[in-house]
Amino acid sequence: MAEWVKAADIRAGHLTGREVEVRGWVHRSRSSGGIAFVVLRDSSGVIQVTFDREQLGDEKFLEAEQAGVETAMIASGTVTEDQRAPGGYELKGQNLEIVGPSDNFPIGRDLSDEFLLDVRHLWVRSQRMASVFKVRSSVFGAIHDYFRSHGFYEVQPPILTSAGSEGGATLFEMDYFGKKLYLTQSWQLYAEALVLSLERIYTVAPSFRAEKSRTTRHLTEYWHAEMEMAWEGMEAVLQHGEELISYVCKTVVDERKPELEILERDVDLLLGIEPPFPRMTYDEALRRLEEAGTEVEWGKDIRTLEEKALAKLFDKPIVITHYPRETQAFYKRTDPEDPDSVLAFDFIAPEIGGELIGGSEREADLGTLEANLVRQGEDLKAYEWYLDSRRYGSVQHSGFGMGVDRLVQWICKLDHIRDAIPFPRTLTRYAP
Ligand code: 4AD
Ligand code: MG
Repeated sequence: MAEWVKAADIRAGHLTGREVEVRGWVHRSRSSGGIAFVVLRDSSGVIQVTFDREQLGDEKFLEAEQAGVETAMIASGTVTEDQRAPGGYELKGQNLEIVGPSDNFPIGRDLSDEFLLDVRHLWVRSQRMASVFKVRSSVFGAIHDYFRSHGFYEVQPPILTSAGSEGGATLFEMDYFGKKLYLTQSWQLYAEALVLSLERIYTVAPSFRAEKSRTTRHLTEYWHAEMEMAWEGMEAVLQHGEELISYVCKTVVDERKPELEILERDVDLLLGIEPPFPRMTYDEALRRLEEAGTEVEWGKDIRTLEEKALAKLFDKPIVITHYPRETQAFYKRTDPEDPDSVLAFDFIAPEIGGELIGGSEREADLGTLEANLVRQGEDLKAYEWYLDSRRYGSVQHSGFGMGVDRLVQWICKLDHIRDAIPFPRTLTRYAP
């Protein structure tokens, strides 16, 4: 029996002359002069198989000739070098078996984005999508590698939560046997309890945000890589953020060169993502923006447009620190040197703008924490258990959260975050 190999193995050139089998799906086919040219796709790429009517017999040849796009097929034959074939190699087919027929595959050329989202369950087979998924797989792998090799324990926070951490406006409510629970926005509250047990922790888990705005960087369900460290301040976690992004970029270049080429991503830019990243305070960012002709009132958020303007100035992620306290979540530590600011930071993606990481040192003082919660309109009762982290042996701790889909979006240079994840969830998109 012929050995089952991947399209990429054949294209690598070391199988020439061997009799092999490929299993795949018909990417395209045509026939002329008694020869059928079938391009098969498997998870590794495409390979051309040629079938000769004389050799194969009429019945089998008809099967090859009539196999529609996305027909699943097992083909066997001899590997030959042929400059005319895509990739320079082809399989001279000796036999074939139709495993799963496919007629009138709905996806052809020049279809609208909306239609492709409707048939996402089929579009995930495209070369472009598959390339993104492979990069995404490397990104997730690299995040786990990074934290594990730096002494962090992986922990799993709950998805169903009794209180929010990032503000009520983006909380998804759910009915829990007649009680109100929320889908997690972040592991924040649980991390601050667990960090007093394990000291260095991380998770990669889904987070949910009821984002009512249509943007190119918001999902309602996204993947969140979060870390928390005891005994450390803002500087230490910020540096982990730099090292982490740099490590992920290097790993992706190492593992996914062909995919980055398909996605037309400049590899040199990714390799240049090395610490230290350019840094500025919120005040400085406002000054820079003013120089560039955009005025932002002190205390207001730096919005998409302004982030993009800043992102243009550097070819690495920008780190903005010391945000105004008023707009920031209750758990971020007030700057002891400036009570109007918090010891918090964001990483802004180069090229496309958008926040890749948000993090901070955590407020240590119980009274300040309670006052922040009350000021933000929260019911202290829901946070009683969380406040115990400040009542019993509290220590300085800090952490951050990274939007993994946004990181994939930037690394793959995608216009829209929905293409960074197989089945996106947005305001208007929840099926398939
Ligand atoms: O800045 P955020 O809201 O911070 C937190 O949730 C903190 N509790 C994290 C922490 O310190 N442990 O979210 C963190 C990151 C953002 O920087 C962004 O990359 C991503 O999560 N993010 C989203 N990604 C996709 N779609 C959305 N709707 C997102 N909202 C936040
Ligand atoms: Mg944020």
